[in-house]
Amino acid sequence: MTEATFVSSSPEETRALGERVGRALEAGDVIVLSGELGAGKTVFVQGLARGLGFEGRVSSKSFVLMGEYAGRIKLYHADLYRLDEPEMAEDLGLGEVTADGALVVEWPERAEYVVPPDALRGRFEVVDAGTRRLHFSAADGRAERLLRALTEEG
Ligand SMILES: Nc1ncnc2c1ncn2[C@@H]1O[C@H](COP(=O)(O)OP(=O)(O)OP(=O)(O)O)[C@@H](O)[C@H]1O
Ligand SMILES: [Mg+2]
Repeated sequence: MTEATFVSSSPEETRALGERVGRALEAGDVIVLSGELGAGKTVFVQGLARGLGFEGRVSSKSFVLMGEYAGRIKLYHADLYRLDEPEMAEDLGLGEVTADGALVVEWPERAEYVVPPDALRGRFEVVDAGTRRLHFSAADGRAERLLRALTEEG
C-alpha cells in the first residue's frame, strides 16, 4: 500500500493535482473519490479531464449519474450519491466502460462492490472554507503509477 497526502489551498490547486493524474491516465484506470459534500471531488475531476486534453465543461453529475468526456482517451465520470440501492450501480456498466477509457467514481461507498482492487482511492476532507486535505492510497501497481504521477511532478 502506497499513500500520499496533500493540502490544497484553493480549487485551482485541487484542479492542478487532478490534471497531473489526468496526464498519466490510461484506459482501464479507475479512481474513486470519497468525502463529504463540497470536499472537492468534482473539482478534482475537472483537473483529470483537463489533463486528458478535454476542453469542455465538467459539472456535478448528481442527477445524470454518468458523464463522458473525450480527450486523449475517454474519461467516464460516475456520481453514485443519488443511487437508491447499491445494486442499481450494475445498470451503469462501470466494469465495461474501462475497456475504452478511464473511470472516476464519486461516492463509491454507495456501491462499494464496484470498486476494483486496483483503483486509486482518494479521500477528501474539508479543513476550512478554502482548504482541503486530499489523501490518496494505492494498493497495486496500476494505482501506484497514478500516485507517482501525483507525487513526482512539480
Ligand atoms: N482547496 C479547495 N479544493 C477544492 N474545492 C475547494 C477548495 N476550497 C474551496 N473549494 C470549494 O469547494 C467546493 C467543492 O465542490 P465540489 O463540487 O468539487 O465538491 P464535491 O466533493 O464534488 O461534492 P459533492 O459530494 O456534492 O459532489 C467548490 O465550491 C469549491 O470552490
Ligand atoms: Mg461532486
